[in-house]
Amino acid sequence: MSTATSLLPPGPRITPLQTFRFMRNPSGLLQECRERYGDPFTLPLPVGNVVITGDPEGIREVFSSDPSVFEPLGQLPLAPAVGENSLLLMGGQRHKRERKLLMPPFHGERMRAYAQLMRELTLRAASTLKPGGTFRAQGMTQDISLEVIIRAVFGIEEPERVRRYREVMVAYLESYTPLLMMAAPLRRSFGGMGPWARFQRHVAELDQLLTEELASRRGHEEGHTDILSLLLAARDEEGQPMADAELKDELRTLLIAGHETTAIGMAWALYHLHREPKTLERLLEELAPLGPTPEPEALAKLPYLSAVCDESLRLHPVVVVVGRRLRAPLTLRGRELAPGTNIMVSIWLAHHDPERFPESERFRPERFIERKFTPFEYLPFGGGARRCIGAAFALSEMRIVLGTLLATHRFSLASDKPERPVRRNITIGPVGGVEMVYEGPRHGALA
Ligand code: HEM
Repeated sequence: MSTATSLLPPGPRITPLQTFRFMRNPSGLLQECRERYGDPFTLPLPVGNVVITGDPEGIREVFSSDPSVFEPLGQLPLAPAVGENSLLLMGGQRHKRERKLLMPPFHGERMRAYAQLMRELTLRAASTLKPGGTFRAQGMTQDISLEVIIRAVFGIEEPERVRRYREVMVAYLESYTPLLMMAAPLRRSFGGMGPWARFQRHVAELDQLLTEELASRRGHEEGHTDILSLLLAARDEEGQPMADAELKDELRTLLIAGHETTAIGMAWALYHLHREPKTLERLLEELAPLGPTPEPEALAKLPYLSAVCDESLRLHPVVVVVGRRLRAPLTLRGRELAPGTNIMVSIWLAHHDPERFPESERFRPERFIERKFTPFEYLPFGGGARRCIGAAFALSEMRIVLGTLLATHRFSLASDKPERPVRRNITIGPVGGVEMVYEGPRHGALA
């Protein structure tokens, strides 16, 4: 291993095999680099050299800098899936304006309107399980979170239309394979054949559904609480509404950014709670006074349930690094980085720092009750001007779904074999999806 360039912090040269390893699950390589080169270090990745920090001081320097210092990292692998008008691909003033339009529906009071829906969908999903039967926790949480998006974000209510959306969205999401995501040369049609052509067909299908939706909904937003209706009614500082093309790409962004991420967080929580019985016991003690089917508002206030969600996202951050490109110089831990430099904040390294998180590989929700962490020590939703706009939504969903499931039903793990994290597409999730056994209702027959 030798230094990549003299201007950047030190780092290894990496082989194609290591690049592949980084793509599959970067945590091992990140850890080795930090041990060997200190923080920050430089990794040569397909996007170019990237300076990486996972130290709270470095993270503070990045997240507290003026947002105009950064633009999105180029060649975002998700770009074709979200579309060119996605918040994820915007920088500068355009990003600021778009966030102003997109953020309000994700805050405060609005969340309450979605809480009952989250509970209802959880109870419905659990009611399909057969006692003694096995199921994949991530399959179930993903079913729930997809329908939460279809109904709370897109505002689709009519069951047949919900079914149609689900079908089209699943086909669209599955057709954007990790291979298409990582290998740009494959993104062309071979005479209407191949994975890219297939993906394009599903993009067109979803686009058709969204075109119909926008045509029938514009002008009828009043009285609706779903996020699309709020976005249709939103106006920017010049009084302009969002254009259809913009709305469609943002809807696809919310779908992609919002459902699998939350589902993975919930699947990991179920896994650890059932591997470490004391944590499940403590959670059940906390849930017991709320009765057989707790109200979502009550679940939102439970400190241990909240700590369980935080600890799952700490131990297994769903997004392990967030990237930026410098438009202006930045001093990172005493080093002057030039415009054009790619940087990444490593959420994984921050969350596995043994100084802040002793026994960092252990699932110990108590740590979130014993002390508070700064946004530079604990950052599952990234930070600064690009911090996840769905963070409150996701945390509320995780608490309601987990609290409802565990208060009403009993589960166990189908095997002792440990799960390990692996990349699915942009997210990193449990390789086997957490196989579980449904043991039956917790309080006898459920109404
Ligand atoms: C546990 C679930 C989730 C996790 C772990 C997560 C994590 C993240 C992370 C790490 C980022 C990048 C932040 C940065 O660059 O600093 C992000 C951005 C984003 N997330 Fe989430 N997210 C989750 C759920 C959601 C949900 C439910 C939605 C919406 C329905 C959502 C919408 C977005 C959007 C639109 C962005 C782009 C923000 C921007 O570029 O300004 N996310 N998320």
